[in-house]
Amino acid sequence: MEKINYKLKKRTNEIEIPQNLGFGKVFTDHMFVMDYNENKGWHNPLIKPVENLSLHPATMFFHYGQGIFEGLKAFKTIDGEPVIFRPEDHIKRFNNSARRLCIPEVDPDFLLNAIVELISLEKDWLPSKKGEAIYIRPFIFGTDPFLGVKPSSTYKLIVMLSPVGAYYAEGFKPVKILVQNDFVRAVRKGMGECKYPGNYAASLLAQEEAHEKGFTQVLWLDGIEQKYIEEVGTMNIFIRFKDEIATPELSGSILPGVTRISVLKILNEWGMNATERLISIDEVLAEYDKGNVLEIFGTGTAAIISSVGLLNYKDRDLTFGKDEPGELAIKLFNEITAIQYGEKEDSYGWLTYVEKLKESV
Ligand code: COI
Repeated sequence: MEKINYKLKKRTNEIEIPQNLGFGKVFTDHMFVMDYNENKGWHNPLIKPVENLSLHPATMFFHYGQGIFEGLKAFKTIDGEPVIFRPEDHIKRFNNSARRLCIPEVDPDFLLNAIVELISLEKDWLPSKKGEAIYIRPFIFGTDPFLGVKPSSTYKLIVMLSPVGAYYAEGFKPVKILVQNDFVRAVRKGMGECKYPGNYAASLLAQEEAHEKGFTQVLWLDGIEQKYIEEVGTMNIFIRFKDEIATPELSGSILPGVTRISVLKILNEWGMNATERLISIDEVLAEYDKGNVLEIFGTGTAAIISSVGLLNYKDRDLTFGKDEPGELAIKLFNEITAIQYGEKEDSYGWLTYVEKLKESV
């Protein structure tokens, strides 16, 4: 692979990180870009100032949606070290998404090094408050100017960085969820397991309708029978029953979340009965009526852990925790963030130390 080239912006003043970051509104100064064509493969890797793109109106991605993305996070540890949480797992999923969308895969080591270089360059943008991080957004899209339906022969890969705070306006407060019965997000053997923009576009109408009714997000049911629970908003879901913590098995329509596998690993390590299986909405209702559903929470890179305070299904309200997050949700949030901010030993080997990796390359 070629060496990364640099075209750096002259910094005239100190970086000021805004107080209330919110999510995805603030961007750092530089981005990584790389192009693909059939002769050269991935080429021209470059770190350069963030700027607008100039694209032909027939760019294939605009018309047929051939694109993918990832979302991972970098943190500043309590020792001031920039670290990235499980980047190899995210890059692996990125390439899995690429294969499904006929997009050429990227060399995982090369992409990891590019992300590390970018984070190292932009490390002054790393917020140090707990709950804040840099959200790393790699994405690829087909760039042929062509209106026929086929895989593009050229692509652009971009990695951009966004300093972020909490994903939901509620912060870590429990969210209100409406079980979605009218629309589905994805079907098995479709695109649900990919980080594919269309999945998010498909979720918007239901999300808007849920917002209008006073809910934060929706819980998606399976696309065939609308019987089994799948994802909650942009997160995976966990149900804490009395003797079991269950999450839907990966059926093909569910995104294999990196926080999801981290939570499963931690629960196993804690000796808890964590399972991956089909969970019907009727089972959740029946067990709730017996007092056997203790809490529900979502997991995702953006929100980390998000407790469900209220679940509404066909005009029935299931409530949890009197406006406070569930006990296990708090414990898991504390455990994961303690690892991410270096307050606790990284016994699972989930952190990539940016400067250490840079030195070894
Ligand atoms: C994540 O939690 O990583 C997500 O995918 C949310 C993102 C779409 C904002």
